[in-house]
Amino acid sequence: MKPRYPMPPYPNGWFQVAVSTEVAPGELKTLKYFGKELVLFRGQDGTARVLDAYCPHLGAHLGLGKVVDDNLECRFHRWQWAGDGSLMHVPDAKRAPAVKADCWPVDEKNGIIFVWHHAEGAAPTWEIPELGKVGTPAYVDWEVQKYRIKTHCQEIGENVTDVAHFTGLHQMEHPDQDEYKAWAEGHVFCAEQHMKMAKGAMAGFEVPVSTRTHGPGVAILTVLVDPIETVSFITQTPVDEESVDAWVNFTLRKQDDPEADRMITEIYKNFLNEQYQDDIPIWETKKYIARPPLSDFDGPVPLWRKWYRQFYSQSFDEDAWAKAS
Ligand code: FES
Ligand SMILES: [Fe+2]
Repeated sequence: MKPRYPMPPYPNGWFQVAVSTEVAPGELKTLKYFGKELVLFRGQDGTARVLDAYCPHLGAHLGLGKVVDDNLECRFHRWQWAGDGSLMHVPDAKRAPAVKADCWPVDEKNGIIFVWHHAEGAAPTWEIPELGKVGTPAYVDWEVQKYRIKTHCQEIGENVTDVAHFTGLHQMEHPDQDEYKAWAEGHVFCAEQHMKMAKGAMAGFEVPVSTRTHGPGVAILTVLVDPIETVSFITQTPVDEESVDAWVNFTLRKQDDPEADRMITEIYKNFLNEQYQDDIPIWETKKYIARPPLSDFDGPVPLWRKWYRQFYSQSFDEDAWAKAS
């Protein structure tokens, strides 16, 4: 059957694989992303690392192993692997083979762990930004909701430019300040808009939303209504060719009143997740329209798609895909 979209499944960039609190020093976590089994582990030195899960020796799954100092020890024959893939220890052997495990670039910023995926194994060419004190005790702990969605990560991110779906699908009111601005800056796609909340405790309340999408997998939304500052990382990471894991990570700069922080967090987090859940059935069933017929009320979807192309190593022909039966 023809796939629902022409894009290759795994674009190049940084992708969330966990929040920092999911893996303490000395712990490991098995992951599946980009169609591969992976193991995330944190050494006693506090650094998070990711290796391909299958031990290069005789293929045991390293997720069954354990962290020893800053290395990952395979349970089968107790070989130890460093985070850069180096073989550090072979019990009882006088000679060890020259072999390396496959490792992934890892960056941990703002209390979130990201891996770099590149189809041709190229090193990172840009970084996820460090946002002041986000991820520290100056902000409330990340409120995290994770979803597994049958779609392509480009389709999720495209939402930011799909202006008409805010009033359509999400049934938001038209904001009083209805200017929408979007532009591309290298690997970052920027959007500025106002949103008027339609439902819940904040119905009728209008907020300015700044979105900065850093590559194919990470959108950072900030809402600043002095003195309230909220930050959301809306991220999506391909699991395999069929589905993505998506996170709605929400935090708030702490005020002096923990009860107020709790209430504001609750209201914003619920609002975000309700909107997000509206989109899921659309993403899971829609097909990609290569040349969409747009009205003057639609947002700059073609600009988004042109910007997103830079994250694919492989070329693909949308028109040929559209014509194929
Ligand atoms: S299979 Fe991992 S040490 Fe032998
Ligand atoms: Fe949406």
